[in-house]
Amino acid sequence: MQAGIKVFAPASVGNTAVGFDTLGFALEHPGDEVIVRFSDKPGLRITLIAGADGKLPYDLEKNTAGFAALKLLEHLGETGRGIEMELHKKMPIGSGLGSSAASAVAGVFAINELLKRPLEKKELLPFAMQGEYLASGGFHADNVAPCLLGGLLLVRDHETFDIHRLPVPKGIYATVIYPKVEVLTKDARSILSDSVPLKKFVQQNANLGAFIIGMYNSDIGLIGRALQDVVIEPQRARLIPLFYEVKEAAMKAGTLGCSISGAGPSIFAMSANSLIAEEVGEAMKEVYSNAKIEHTLYISPINQEGAVKL
Ligand code: HSE
Repeated sequence: MQAGIKVFAPASVGNTAVGFDTLGFALEHPGDEVIVRFSDKPGLRITLIAGADGKLPYDLEKNTAGFAALKLLEHLGETGRGIEMELHKKMPIGSGLGSSAASAVAGVFAINELLKRPLEKKELLPFAMQGEYLASGGFHADNVAPCLLGGLLLVRDHETFDIHRLPVPKGIYATVIYPKVEVLTKDARSILSDSVPLKKFVQQNANLGAFIIGMYNSDIGLIGRALQDVVIEPQRARLIPLFYEVKEAAMKAGTLGCSISGAGPSIFAMSANSLIAEEVGEAMKEVYSNAKIEHTLYISPINQEGAVKL
């Protein structure tokens, strides 16, 4: 067997409360790993999927990592190349942590590394997005872009790569709790209303603008006041067990803001430092432990690297 290339692509928090489909950040952990190596059999094949409890298909047309990688190989005119791919899922599926984005990013990033980087990292985005589309049924890059490139990113337009990295004040930490229920992004998108009342539109715009100013000026108070989703969160909260109880516990424990991570069911909180992030995590956990709801807690700084070769 030939030596392979192993890559890591991190989990991410889409929407970040105030930027539906346009704002997201990457976590340091968890994340997915993909191993690729050349093989004598022509064409791309997925030879192993670990950690997915049999939930993910080996068929390239149906697998986010495989499909994204295939689209990249087509673009490069390399579909005849014999390549084996292993997908090691190291994060929950349908969790709101950008699981499908992580697989898609890991797939394209690994292929690009194996072929000695024919494309720049940023240029892999459209291919990763095609993989993400399979899972979510929508073209949005608020998970895929930070997963690939790292950081807290604002995606003004993913087709023209009009993507902007926001500064993150020193010390900012994320707490994410995943209650073990599955929410499919497609379903969480289908319940959203097509229209936004003008008052909510005004509030949400003001919050997004203020959040960005807060990030640029390291104005922790402003970040805290701005980190409120008045449009999407009220529509999706019912999909998540004890959402408002968990949020209240996080706010009482001193976090800056707390909302749904991506399409849910994970809930994220952004705190001024790691100590508060841990206390917030304890408070969130207590709600689910008392209610006997199975959950996993992640505490992480903002990952500035994105996908990396291991
Ligand atoms: N922005 C997306 C949503 C993230 O909230 O539907 C999930 O992939």
